[in-house]
Amino acid sequence: METLKKAAETYGTPLYVYFEKAIRERARIVKEVFRGVNLLPTFAVKANNNPNLLTILREEGLGMDVVTKGELLAAKLAGVDPLLIVWNGNGKSKEEMVHFLEEGVRTINVDSFEEMEIWEGLNPESVSFFVRVNPEVDARTHPHISTGLRKHKFGIPLDLLDRFMRRFKNMNIKGLHVHIGSQITKVEPLLEACEKVVEASRRYGFEEINIGGGWGINYHGEELNVEEYKEKVVPLLVGFKRVFVEIGRYIIAPAGFLVLKVVLVKKRKEKVFVIVDGGMNTLIRPALYSAYHRIFVCGKSGAGIRADVVGPLCESGDVIAYDRDLPVVEPGDFLVVENAGAYGYTMANNYNSTPKPAEVLVKKSGELVLIRRRENTMDIFKDVVM
Ligand SMILES: Cc1ncc(COP(=O)(O)O)c(C=O)c1O
Repeated sequence: METLKKAAETYGTPLYVYFEKAIRERARIVKEVFRGVNLLPTFAVKANNNPNLLTILREEGLGMDVVTKGELLAAKLAGVDPLLIVWNGNGKSKEEMVHFLEEGVRTINVDSFEEMEIWEGLNPESVSFFVRVNPEVDARTHPHISTGLRKHKFGIPLDLLDRFMRRFKNMNIKGLHVHIGSQITKVEPLLEACEKVVEASRRYGFEEINIGGGWGINYHGEELNVEEYKEKVVPLLVGFKRVFVEIGRYIIAPAGFLVLKVVLVKKRKEKVFVIVDGGMNTLIRPALYSAYHRIFVCGKSGAGIRADVVGPLCESGDVIAYDRDLPVVEPGDFLVVENAGAYGYTMANNYNSTPKPAEVLVKKSGELVLIRRRENTMDIFKDVVM
């Protein structure tokens, strides 16, 4: 891909590159799936927090799902109306609650009895509360990103909902919220969770509902079949006055690429290691979740070597990909990691005192725009007191 090469040559590597056209297309697919439903689509800012990208999503009519003050600021920088912001999280402090209220956020997903007691004490005006329920549904995804079982820290088990509703009958509870995990590639668990929560919503006469996100993409084979989702899940939602969704990965992952430069090719009898200039500091998903990302080499094709693509950091787990068939590569070649737009930059870190990468947007017109500068080494030490 010429554009990616040009971006890397202009802005250096490691570099995240996003395509505006793809972001808009993916956002439109989501809206289309819910046609006929009174939808308020929100984008999960945890997946990608660059305000330039959030601006594109705002223009597409999306609100934002935020968890922290930082994510709220990202949404604010993107000009998102606070009334289109949903606040999630299992550890909201009283001080944060006051801040979010001052910022005009009025839709809150409550995670526990303990949290609601604090809200009760604050007695906020014109806030809509949604109760996050834990439906005891296995999302069949990686354990670290599975959230819908009783053993997980999120939400209130459905069998405690009656007690919750009685205890907080004076609070403005508008509906239920459910989110059973991320990178879910089967419709069944999403359907099962939605059925349970719709059924409970009807019991309490709720006219609004929040069904979370979690749509799985094609990293390596299977992805969520959105047509099947549309057929089976969406009809359950018709008739609600407002349906919130919180989708991150499905929208932004395929619109983003990570470009890395080959530093060295280390050949051992039993293995070849292609060492690139970004590893688990730049993209932690392979190290953290054993995630698979497809990789290609700019300007080269065919299979010449089988190699592990590894980063330059001091951990054996500092790996981008294992056992990949790649063309013969040499130092200076650009390697491109696909589907890097979600949980890429937002999970980047400074391990081994390395600066975070830059981000570039390819506009619809084809123009390249720098949307986040590369950190410099001094940035890492900016908060040191000595
Ligand atoms: C409450 C909540 N909503 C939405 C999302 C977005 O998930 P995804 O990026 O898989 O769509 C997450 C992420 O796990 C989440 O925790």
